[in-house]
Amino acid sequence: LVIVIDFGGQYNQLVARRVRECNVYCEIYSYKIDIEKIKEMNPKGIILTGGPNSCYEEGAATYSKELFELGIPVLGLCYGAQLMQHILGGKVEKAPVREYGKTEVIVDDETSPIFEGVSKNTICWMSHFDYISKIAPGFVTTSHTADCPTASAENKEKNLYAIQFHPEVLHTEEGTKMLSNFVMKVCKCSGDWRMDSFVEESIKKIREKVGDGKVLCALSGGVDSSVAAVMLSKAIGKQLTCVFVDHGLLRKNEGDEVEAVFGPEGPYDLNFIRVNAQQRYYDKLKGVEEPEQKRKIIGEEFIRVFEEEAKKIGKVDFLVQGTIYPDVVESGLGGESAVIKSHHNVGGLPDHIDFKEIIEPLRDLFKDEVRKAGLEMGLPEYLVFRQPFPGPGLGIRIIGEVTEEKVRIVQDADAIYREEIANAGLDRSIGQYFAGLTNMRSVGVMGDERTYDYAVALRAVNTIDFMTAEAAEIPYEVLNKVMTRIINEVKGVNRVMYDLTSKPPGTIEFE
Ligand code: XMP
Repeated sequence: LVIVIDFGGQYNQLVARRVRECNVYCEIYSYKIDIEKIKEMNPKGIILTGGPNSCYEEGAATYSKELFELGIPVLGLCYGAQLMQHILGGKVEKAPVREYGKTEVIVDDETSPIFEGVSKNTICWMSHFDYISKIAPGFVTTSHTADCPTASAENKEKNLYAIQFHPEVLHTEEGTKMLSNFVMKVCKCSGDWRMDSFVEESIKKIREKVGDGKVLCALSGGVDSSVAAVMLSKAIGKQLTCVFVDHGLLRKNEGDEVEAVFGPEGPYDLNFIRVNAQQRYYDKLKGVEEPEQKRKIIGEEFIRVFEEEAKKIGKVDFLVQGTIYPDVVESGLGGESAVIKSHHNVGGLPDHIDFKEIIEPLRDLFKDEVRKAGLEMGLPEYLVFRQPFPGPGLGIRIIGEVTEEKVRIVQDADAIYREEIANAGLDRSIGQYFAGLTNMRSVGVMGDERTYDYAVALRAVNTIDFMTAEAAEIPYEVLNKVMTRIINEVKGVNRVMYDLTSKPPGTIEFE
């Protein structure tokens, strides 16, 4: 185990990712974590992340000096590096020149374990306004840049390493090598953390925890809840009941696809209940136009339907949640990064269900690791590589009132769009893409007749973290083909538009 102590920097999850890519297990904790807890965990290494503060300012995030005296190797990155120097007697000040972006770093000490196998001149990602003006006693400078006399420093004897730049960012060309050097060479991790053993281990733990108890899972058909359900099914078979609520706002055929995998005809051993609540939702949504109100109705109705089903099942011992690691970090539980969004998931936690405990088997995994686990357990690729799909479903891709007719239009248009994107071989390279239904109707002409129909909007974005996004550049021929097919095949549509807006100022979804 390596632990990452989070000081609020924007790349913190990346640090954890890179460490995991070395097949070393790691977890992120806030800088507020008690040192006793760290001692208990006895990690093989500690990484201090970047952060937005100046470490010499009053009230800045800090840590006890004892951290550096535990005999555990510590690597400080950016703010973490400055803090290490500051605490151990070095000096950090406002830099005369702020460094930002790709910067050439010159390695001065080729015997440094961090730079083993790294070029003497190497491009690194810098982002700092403070700098280490004097290194702490016992340290030597191991690299510099044109503007920064200490780009890295170390105290080899005590296994303390400070790096001003960001090796976790891919713009640092040999950054992965440096982090791997730290975890493998300095911390001497064995690098044998693998997905198959994680899955096996998790199944074993679930079995022990659940015993002969009953488990209930709200299955949405999304990647996370599907992988969680399969893991539970492998562990405890029919002690698991999955409730799948079809709210009528799913993509075309999605309800049947979920049933094909998890239902009685599918390969997994579990109880599967599909609730066809489509009409109920359409009734509730009738006449409602305001986006937030729609979201609220969809969310609340889900909880109600789910509770009703749970009541029929009776008392259960555990409730499964498909929480994944970024959810934990984003909601401020794991790390220090600001809470950025609190999207309401239809899979939100119902209040009135009688259960003892929550099981979150994917709590420690990143999204791509969840996918790996899914493939490992034999889930079909189309399910594992499914696009993100919002909890409120098509409800927030139909602007204005939701009706059964509009749902049909957007489902059909979206299915064509997805099919053509896949035909063009773009389905894995675009971050997220879907069709939405604008509330606009306009005049057109078709077969010599006047039409007055809806306009469909195509959306496709590339994004790394879904917090910012750019419209994807889809080849014109592909868009043209999609347009022709939608107009020809989807009744009620006479116009197709492509949304060019980035986020911000737009959002990815329409509502
Ligand atoms: P926005 O529209 O906020 O979307 O730019 C960012 C990402 O979040 C997804 N999204 C949601 N996911 N419940 C979810 O589970 C929601 O209410 C929700 N709203 C947006 C969206 O699909 C995109 O991936």
